Amino acid sequence: MIRRTAGAGRGALTAHSTVLTMPQKRFQARVSGTDRNSIQDSIRGESRAERLSTAATKGRVMRLENKIALVTGAGSGIGEASSELFAKEGAAVGVCDLNAGTAESVAARIRAAGGRAIALQADVTDRADVERVVGAVVREFGGLHILVNSAGVSDRGAPEDYDTDQVWQWVMDVNVRGTLLPSRVAVEEMRKSGGGSIINLSSIYGLVGRPEWLSDGFSGYAHSKGAVLQITRDLAVKTAREGIRVNALCPGFVHTNLTAGLSDDPERLRRLEEAHPMGRLGEASEIAYCALFLASDEASFVTGIALSVDGGYTAQ
Ligand SMILES: NC(=O)c1ccc[n+]([C@@H]2O[C@H](COP(=O)([O-])OP(=O)(O)OC[C@H]3O[C@@H](n4cnc5c(N)ncnc54)[C@H](O)[C@@H]3O)[C@@H](O)[C@H]2O)c1
Repeated sequence: MIRRTAGAGRGALTAHSTVLTMPQKRFQARVSGTDRNSIQDSIRGESRAERLSTAATKGRVMRLENKIALVTGAGSGIGEASSELFAKEGAAVGVCDLNAGTAESVAARIRAAGGRAIALQADVTDRADVERVVGAVVREFGGLHILVNSAGVSDRGAPEDYDTDQVWQWVMDVNVRGTLLPSRVAVEEMRKSGGGSIINLSSIYGLVGRPEWLSDGFSGYAHSKGAVLQITRDLAVKTAREGIRVNALCPGFVHTNLTAGLSDDPERLRRLEEAHPMGRLGEASEIAYCALFLASDEASFVTGIALSVDGGYTAQ
């Protein structure tokens, strides 16, 4: 079974007993019977994850067998869930984060579960750091096939003494330069490995504007996520003939450390839930499964897309 891990990013997958968050409990209370059980299973990714591990022990070929992945922002949230899922599916994973401690604890958990992982500390906006961690993955595992650019920040996480312009620049640096730099370095290695898959974390706010009650029109988050989509399309077109696929995920609101400040306020959480036609926020594992599809050979004819994973938010 799957539970969140205390001390690690929210929504991480790990093999123990089940603990529901308050939003999940509220959601559970609104539905009933069989529906509730199957919806709850899918929220936690529990039955599916169990099926996957059962299939693996029965000798099924894993979906990322012999693949080597680097995940940035892997110490928390979507990057953490993706690292764990990829490792379960057979990938060797470079678990990269600005925070060395969270990267190490995710990598250690993967190794304890029998997977292959190394922890890597890096700032994705720093070229020397990025070259160092890509080099470390290649040296340790022998190549690079998958890059997940999950390192990201929102305006609310900016240093308190930053003015509006500095916040905007900081968000653009981490979210845009921090996507472009690892991609540029990884593409060189993917060419040597005979191809690869890059998955960029954009957002629903790469596709549509943010409502005024969440931020004004001058905040960098939506601007940065739009830029991530255009990096995705531009790089996809330029690398398509080399067997390198580049795609973006556009999640709606997901329970992670990034959104904790928003979802901790009950009234704001209710508004956020209502903004999604499914009436709830997503879980990191639900984004990780989409990253897994895009990373795997099942998506061999998919490149340059923006895949909304948003409980219907952008369908409205
Ligand atoms: N959570 C959501 O609702 C949501 C929705 C849409 C898109 N996204 C995007 O998904 C990605 C992951 O978000 P999350 O919710 O998992 O966030 P998170 O805060 O849980 O994890 C982000 C991780 O990135 C790391 N990081 C930040 N700056 C870094 C840097 N300069 N170098 C290296 N690592 C750095 C952080 O230490 C953290 O571990 C982000 O790009 C985010 O914008 C999240």
